[in-house]
Amino acid sequence: MDDAFELITSRRSTRKFSAKPVDRKLLDRVLEAGRYAPSGGNSQTSHLIVITNREVLEQMAVIARESFAKMEVLPSTYRSLASAIKASKSGNYVFHYNAPVLVVVANKKGYGNALADTGCLIENMMLEANSLDLGSCWINQVHWLDEDPDMHAKMVELGLREDERITGGMALGYADSEDELPERRPLPRTGNQITYVE
Ligand SMILES: Cc1cc2nc3c(=O)[nH]c(=O)nc-3n(C[C@H](O)[C@H](O)[C@H](O)COP(=O)(O)O)c2cc1C
Repeated sequence: MDDAFELITSRRSTRKFSAKPVDRKLLDRVLEAGRYAPSGGNSQTSHLIVITNREVLEQMAVIARESFAKMEVLPSTYRSLASAIKASKSGNYVFHYNAPVLVVVANKKGYGNALADTGCLIENMMLEANSLDLGSCWINQVHWLDEDPDMHAKMVELGLREDERITGGMALGYADSEDELPERRPLPRTGNQITYVE
């Protein structure tokens, strides 16, 4: 797919992945697209921790489930977090949708553009994934659990540095669909309004 607008408007989140591994060349292309994202002041301080080891992914899923299961849902709890807590309490929550690849994005603690840089980086990766017929989905649970002692310890074991915090994540893999292609029909845009000043 060559057309940038088509690539952007046909990107959708994939939440059902097949177990088929992603070829290393394709994975590297997606990661490289992320590395080419702009960054505040050209800081380039994002750190991508790329997990393809199934055992490690399962360990992370267990940590996330156990951590969310300990939390309470309050009226003010963000809707997606409330769903994660409820699903974890019932014991059947896999935050990365069993994707064969999870990219955890980290950035320097105290860096004001950390989340903005992460947004650019993950969107670049998701667009490249779309161009390569791979499914992807932003995975924020690793960010929510950044200060969770068990998730933090696991991430340090996997390469997170002490001066970094987790700012986001992305699941990547082939869609669990008949043709292995991700859904591409865009959701209608009812928000994201534009004000023209002419
Ligand atoms: C900052 C951010 C965080 C998100 N976190 C999650 C998440 O943790 N889990 C998930 O399944 N989807 C997550 N999403 C995906 C959104 O739910 C999705 O983009 C939105 O519903 C629109 O659907 P689409 O991506 O298919 O167009 C996130 C998206 C963004 C931009």
